[in-house]
Amino acid sequence: MDFAARIDTAITDAIRLGQAAPSPTKLASALHYTVTPGGARIRPSILMSVATACGDSQPALADAAAAALELMHCASLVHDDLPCFDDADTRRGKPAVHKAYGEPLAVLTGDSLIIMAFEIIARASVHDPARACQLMMILAKRSGMPNGICAGQGWESESEIDLSAYHRAKTGALFIAATQMGAVAAGEEAEPWEELGARIGEAFQVADDLRDALYDEETLGKPVGQDDLHGRPNAVTELGVKGAIAHMREILSGAIASIPKCPGEAMLAKLVTAQAEVLTPIKWRAGQHMTPGE
Ligand code: IPE
Ligand code: IPE
Ligand code: MG
Ligand code: MG
Repeated sequence: MDFAARIDTAITDAIRLGQAAPSPTKLASALHYTVTPGGARIRPSILMSVATACGDSQPALADAAAAALELMHCASLVHDDLPCFDDADTRRGKPAVHKAYGEPLAVLTGDSLIIMAFEIIARASVHDPARACQLMMILAKRSGMPNGICAGQGWESESEIDLSAYHRAKTGALFIAATQMGAVAAGEEAEPWEELGARIGEAFQVADDLRDALYDEETLGKPVGQDDLHGRPNAVTELGVKGAIAHMREILSGAIASIPKCPGEAMLAKLVTAQAEVLTPIKWRAGQHMTPGE
């Protein structure tokens, strides 16, 4: 099975367990709605790539970790779109969960997915309890306070933002979780994999800034121009389009240099190089003229 199929199967199985009778039907339906169709699933794909590069000695743990990470990400998006956060009406080209199901069910959907993420790893712990425990610790660290998504979102309620701490926690954290959980699922140490995750996360943040500034809502499937609207710092405003793309490529070169020694080192380097293309906005690749900050 390829990575995408493994990830999809693991997520589908987890959601099905959460929908088992007797369960409230609307919430059960909202769980499915949130993860289908999936987004780019970049975080679990990175996790699988690292696990494979490290030998993938416990595929069931890698599958569980990948599903858990993606569910945590999906939960963060459901909560992020709520009126009390970004008040975004669309996500992945369809109504945001609170628009489709109402706010109480959106809050509960996010909560359920977060809990499910830990449950998936706990269920897979029969394969290697020590590795599973480490996977849960990494996921917790990169989701909560003080280093995870909660911290990242929390910075938005401060009058003064520590920009690098904000980006590292909001976007970088789950990429660090991706590389570290991939390594740990395969029986490797987590620590050497932090830098690679952090650098990919940093590049992803710049790419997200580019998309936010350059795409329209139909192409992106979610509201655009959000950074300007909420007065948040954006790499395009700071560096211009060309500057932001150059910065992103520079970060990804650093990412390649930081790949730890492992059997699949060359494969991972190729993958990170390919990410530069994936992350560069399509309009730019086609050479079309763009205005913001150019
Ligand atoms: C969006 O993440 C939220 C950010 C952290 C910028 P993705 O761009 O990975 O969203 P999906 O999962 O593909 O929809
Ligand atoms: C959402 O961040 C990602 C989380 C950490 C919850 P943003 O608000 O910047 O991303 P989009 O534009 O809604 O995807
Ligand atoms: Mg937000
Ligand atoms: Mg948002």
